[in-house]
Amino acid sequence: MKDWWKSSVVYQIYPRSFNDSNGDGMGDIPGIIEKLDYLKQLGIDVIWLSPVFDSPQDDNGYDIRDYKRVYEEFGTNEDMFKMIDEAHKRGIKIVMDLVVNHTSDEHQWFIESRKSKDNPYRDYYIWKDGKEDGTEPNNWGSYFSGSAWQYDETTDQYFLHYFSKRQPDLNWENEQLRNDVWDLMNFWMEKGVDGWRLDVISSISKFQDYPDYDKVEGHKYLIGKYHTNGPRLHEFLKDMNREVLSKYDCMTVGEAPGSSPSEAKLFTEPSRNELNMIFTFEHMDLDTEQGTPNGKWAMRDLNLVELKENLTKWQTELEVGGWNSLYWNNHDQPRIVSRWGNDREYRVESAKMLGTILHFMKGTPYIYQGEEIGMVNCAYEIDEYNDLEIRNAYRELVQENGTLSHEQFLKAVHYKGRDNARTPMQWNDTTNAGFTTGQPWLKVNPSFEAINVEAALQDPNSVFYHYQKMIQLRKELPIVVHGKYALILEDHAEIFAYTREHEGKRLLVVANFYGHTSTFDLPANLQGANWTKLLSNYEDSAAHPVGLELRPYEAIVYVEE
Ligand code: NOJ
Repeated sequence: MKDWWKSSVVYQIYPRSFNDSNGDGMGDIPGIIEKLDYLKQLGIDVIWLSPVFDSPQDDNGYDIRDYKRVYEEFGTNEDMFKMIDEAHKRGIKIVMDLVVNHTSDEHQWFIESRKSKDNPYRDYYIWKDGKEDGTEPNNWGSYFSGSAWQYDETTDQYFLHYFSKRQPDLNWENEQLRNDVWDLMNFWMEKGVDGWRLDVISSISKFQDYPDYDKVEGHKYLIGKYHTNGPRLHEFLKDMNREVLSKYDCMTVGEAPGSSPSEAKLFTEPSRNELNMIFTFEHMDLDTEQGTPNGKWAMRDLNLVELKENLTKWQTELEVGGWNSLYWNNHDQPRIVSRWGNDREYRVESAKMLGTILHFMKGTPYIYQGEEIGMVNCAYEIDEYNDLEIRNAYRELVQENGTLSHEQFLKAVHYKGRDNARTPMQWNDTTNAGFTTGQPWLKVNPSFEAINVEAALQDPNSVFYHYQKMIQLRKELPIVVHGKYALILEDHAEIFAYTREHEGKRLLVVANFYGHTSTFDLPANLQGANWTKLLSNYEDSAAHPVGLELRPYEAIVYVEE
């Protein structure tokens, strides 16, 4: 079927945390194969696999040393081929993670590049002289703290790295490099891979004059408009489409921080022949205080009206010429039930409510491993975390600059740190949650005794079965895939409600976003219709959307008969 990705649900696997088959404490590909039947039971159509390529694991595989080889601790290329085959047998497609904004500093290209200025690979990366006083070429910051430039003594120049200094940025101006990227993509596509998630793809084209950002008080290095959407971005993506993507029946989703809906359409407008979807970051930034030196660690409360406004903007603007990817969670975000739900007395209700809001919007939903059982954040001590973003930020903000105290930082990490998503998958209530028989690479979340797959499968009211039902409804009802979205009660501070409309029928979604009762008044234009209840997170939710007193986190979906 053409555009199969529009009616698909994608499940993201973070391989090192999913399932360990050989007891070394790290998830692996044979471990994923063991769980394919579980994913089939959930009903998902596509797996997005975070990177499995050979890597020194400075950033858990987002630093690639060899694009054509699977990382030893995850298995072999043969394991990967087998996984593709086993997934396909079950009707599940495989999307791999393409990390080509940068490589590892242990990639052969970089090893060569740093040797001398006239090395044939020199130009595969971005090398610059320092300013006259010897400082960095400009004031661009790294997403992982500090400057985006690293000085290298061998040739007395700096190289650019948007992420860690062990992740040098590739120079996409170089045609030979681009050809090598098409080559590695074709290599995996020929092995049967069904598409790509493209890591920070909005950053691959750099502004060639490398301008300084305007100075901002309290900030030595800055991250902003020069970091994304560079001048040749869309030219490169069109080339990629021509050289690789157009030859296969595949799906693509680009990670595109810094992109507005109109910029998103430049990636996704079908006639432009670039990508199918992008990931927006706008809704994920709504609980961050902007403009402080503390970056994502500066927290503020979420305002529901703003969230509705933002998601509605994306729904509306991409209605023509675009397609949304819908997500609350991934390996870079904390657990949604702990973030915007209630992970204590209303864990099950709020996890289902958040899932409902997302899965009935227009677009392709993404589920991150463990979200389907309502996994929650962890609260560890600082030295129990593995993530280099956390470790670097702690050093910079707490130890060097003192802009956050130890306690403030830890509180922010408990709320927002990436390791919240990366704790091992909770399969059952035995040692290490059934994830490994060895020593897990990251401490298992102590919640595993109550929250695990085995328990969820035994409980007909679990979050799992709610997700299963939502996925099933998407397959049964074209309105879930195609219906036009419209927000209702936009100024209501507690209720998120919207309609979808398709071929003369309507769907109505109403959800109480908070832990107390809230009244829902059915707008006049929706009265008089013959509404039937399709799905809810309380067994006895009202059969009709009239006179509704929504209980804590109650979410109900109605369909017009
Ligand atoms: C985005 C990825 O999702 C994140 O995990 C990674 O650290 C950076 N890109 C760098 O590759």
